[in-house]
Amino acid sequence: MHRTVLSIGRAVVRCSQWSAGQLKKSTPSTYCRAILSNQAPSSFVNGNTQNIHTTSRKWQPEENKVYVLGCRSNNVKVNADGISLKYGEYDMELLFVWLRDHCRCSECYNHTTNQKNLQHRKLHSEDLPSSVEFDGLVLSITWSDGHLTSYDINWLVDNTYHQQHTDQVDKVVWDKETIETAGLPTVHFKEYMDSDEGLRKHLYNLVKFGFSIVTEAPPVHHMGTLEVSTRICFKQETHFGPDWTFTSNNERGDTAYSTMYLGAHTDNTYFTNPSGIQVFHVLEHNGDGGQTLLVDGQHCAEQLRAKHPEDFDILTRMVIPHEYYEEKLRIRSLGTVLSVHPTTRQFLQIRYNPYDRSPLYTLPPDQQKAFYRAYENLTKEVRDESNELWVKLRPGMVLFVDNWRAMHGRASFTGRRLVSGCYLPRDDWASRARLMGLMNL
Ligand SMILES: [Fe+2]
Ligand SMILES: [Zn+2]
Repeated sequence: MHRTVLSIGRAVVRCSQWSAGQLKKSTPSTYCRAILSNQAPSSFVNGNTQNIHTTSRKWQPEENKVYVLGCRSNNVKVNADGISLKYGEYDMELLFVWLRDHCRCSECYNHTTNQKNLQHRKLHSEDLPSSVEFDGLVLSITWSDGHLTSYDINWLVDNTYHQQHTDQVDKVVWDKETIETAGLPTVHFKEYMDSDEGLRKHLYNLVKFGFSIVTEAPPVHHMGTLEVSTRICFKQETHFGPDWTFTSNNERGDTAYSTMYLGAHTDNTYFTNPSGIQVFHVLEHNGDGGQTLLVDGQHCAEQLRAKHPEDFDILTRMVIPHEYYEEKLRIRSLGTVLSVHPTTRQFLQIRYNPYDRSPLYTLPPDQQKAFYRAYENLTKEVRDESNELWVKLRPGMVLFVDNWRAMHGRASFTGRRLVSGCYLPRDDWASRARLMGLMNL
C-alpha cells in the first residue's frame, strides 16, 4: 500500500502535489513517483539526511533525490469533550462529536460515492470513546458502543479546523513592476492543446498570477477561442449567450459594446455566483487604442488590508447590491465586495464593478459613510497607475482572466475591433486545478 512506502520512521511524506484523496487512491504526482520508483525504501534510510519539514505543504521534493525523513514530535491529550492533537506545526482540537461525525469506516461512509451513509444512525452522536491511540500516523478510537474508527493524520491535517490551511501554489500578488519583471504568463497553443503539461502550465499561471495567455492560437472564433476555452471545462452560458463575437456596434446597452474607455472591474458582479474565468480574444483591430488593462484585485485588497484594516474588514462584511437591467432582464445580486477564507482570512474573491452597483438600500444610514470611505480607498488602489498592466492583445493571443481575482478594463479605441470570448464557471475550472494539485482552498 502507498502509505507503507511513504512512511519512514513513522513520518509521512507530504508535498503540495498530493491531496488526501490522491493519497487514498494511491496516485502520487510525477515528482513523487520519480522518487518512489527510483529508490527502494532501504535507500531512503541510507541517503543524505535532508532537514525537511515533512508536514509543510510548501515542500517540493526534487526529482531523483534521496530523502531521509525523521519523526516529528507529536502529542495527544484526551479531555472531557475531545482530543488535543499536536502534529508538527498543526494544533488540532478534535471534539468527539466531530470525530464521530467524520468516521470513515465502510459502515459510516460510502467510499465509492464519497458520501456519508446516514441510513443506519442518527445524524450526530454524543458518543464517548473507550480508548484513543495515536501511533504518529493513525489516530484510532474505539467508541463506547464498540464501533472502531481510524483517521489518517494527513486526512486530519487537510480536513480539520486550524489556521494553517493554505492554497497549493504560491501566488504572485502583483503590481505593474512585479508582473513586468516576471513577464507575461503564457503557454503555446500546441503545447496547451496537445499535452497535460501544457494544460497544467496554463492553470498554474491562472492560479499564480490570476491570468494566463495562450499564444499562437488560430485567430478565429471556433477553432481558436472556443476550442482553447473548452480545453479547461464547459462554458458558462449567460444572457450574453453561450459565447460571443462582437464589435463596437452598441448592440446591447452595455459599455463593453462601445468604443469607450473602461476602468478596471470584474464581470458579473450582478450574478449570485460571478463567472470564474473570462476569455478575451481580439480577432481583428484596424485602428488605434484598445489596449487591455489588467489589475490584480488580490494585490489591491492586500494593500487596503495593510493601509486601512478597518476598511478591508468593512468590505468583507457589508453586503451591497449590483444589477444588470435590460428591457427583458432584471438580474440582481447581494454580496460583499471582498470575500476571505473563514478560518485563515486569506483573500478569496473580489466583486468590484462601480458601473454595475445598484441603489444602496442594504446599509442603514449610520453605516453608509464607512462603506463609501472603504470603497473609495479600494478604488484608489484599483486606479493607481503603479498597479496597472496594459497589454496590446493581438489575434492569436487568447487571454484568460480569473474573474474572482484579476480585474480587466480597456483603453478607448478607433476603428473596427472584433472581440471573441466566453465565460467559464468557477467551480469547474477550480475542480480542474484541484485535480492537478494546483489549488487547495
Ligand atoms: Fe468586463
Ligand atoms: Zn464508522
